[in-house]
Amino acid sequence: MNGTIELKKVRKTFPRDEGRIVVLDDVNITFGSAEFISLIGPSGCGKSTLLRLIAGLTRQDSGTIRIDGVEISKPGYERGLVFQDPTLFPWMTIYENIAYGLRARGVYQTEKHLIPGFFRLVGLEGFEKSYPHHLSGGMAQRAALARALVNRPKVLLLDEPLGALDAFTRMTMQDEILAIWQKQRMTTVMVTHDVDEAVYMANRIIVMSARPAKIEQVITVKKEHPRRRDDLDFLELRAGILRTLHFAGKREEPDKK
Ligand SMILES: Nc1ncnc2c1ncn2[C@@H]1O[C@H](COP(=O)(O)OP(=O)(O)OP(=O)(O)O)[C@@H](O)[C@H]1O
Ligand SMILES: [Mg+2]
Repeated sequence: MNGTIELKKVRKTFPRDEGRIVVLDDVNITFGSAEFISLIGPSGCGKSTLLRLIAGLTRQDSGTIRIDGVEISKPGYERGLVFQDPTLFPWMTIYENIAYGLRARGVYQTEKHLIPGFFRLVGLEGFEKSYPHHLSGGMAQRAALARALVNRPKVLLLDEPLGALDAFTRMTMQDEILAIWQKQRMTTVMVTHDVDEAVYMANRIIVMSARPAKIEQVITVKKEHPRRRDDLDFLELRAGILRTLHFAGKREEPDKK
């Protein structure tokens, strides 16, 4: 499995009033195969936009985005996506929600034998016939994760997937996502607001500046997984990131008209 993501000179603007706002400007970065990347930055800086561009849900104004050397222009099954909101289909059972991707790809009959494995992977055995409203927030997020993973993506894109969960569920799910990542080895890009989460989970942390977002700092976290949450080295990393975020957040430029 590969899953290299390469962004070159990516620029993205949106219409605003009479003019346009520049959200991303000259973003250049490569995420290597099987890396776990955390994207962190001030609110509104363009993290979700960057993820949506990689997902192919929106197009950049200029620059290129390549997955394993192939330029992308639309969503694809090799890229799985999970948002803060689980976005399950409420009228479908959890089984049908998870089977959805296989049906959409026309491979349900040949690959449905894999589905129980994904229920096991995310710890939802016994909930096959439940509906989304029967699940807690954490369980719904596990189902959304299984739905993204069932197509065995090379790239997993997570936009604050744990943002709506309580602190305890959040920590449990951090470990679960890490365990899945270690098993499946897909390149994972996770947007988070939580510096501790980024430090605990990522191989590399990308700190973005306020709009127009540039990559402010790239931090490699050289600790093997599983990590200790109380690792003293993390305190220093955390302080450094908070300092960068503080300055990055202040430098917001006025909207370009
Ligand atoms: N479809 C859109 N149309 C117009 N403007 C948009 C659109 N999507 C995003 N924006 C603007 O682009 C900027 C970046 O938004 P984005 O959602 O990427 O930020 P973010 O870093 O994910 O923020 P948060 O941390 O609050 O989730 C914001 O100013 C937002 O208003
Ligand atoms: Mg966002």
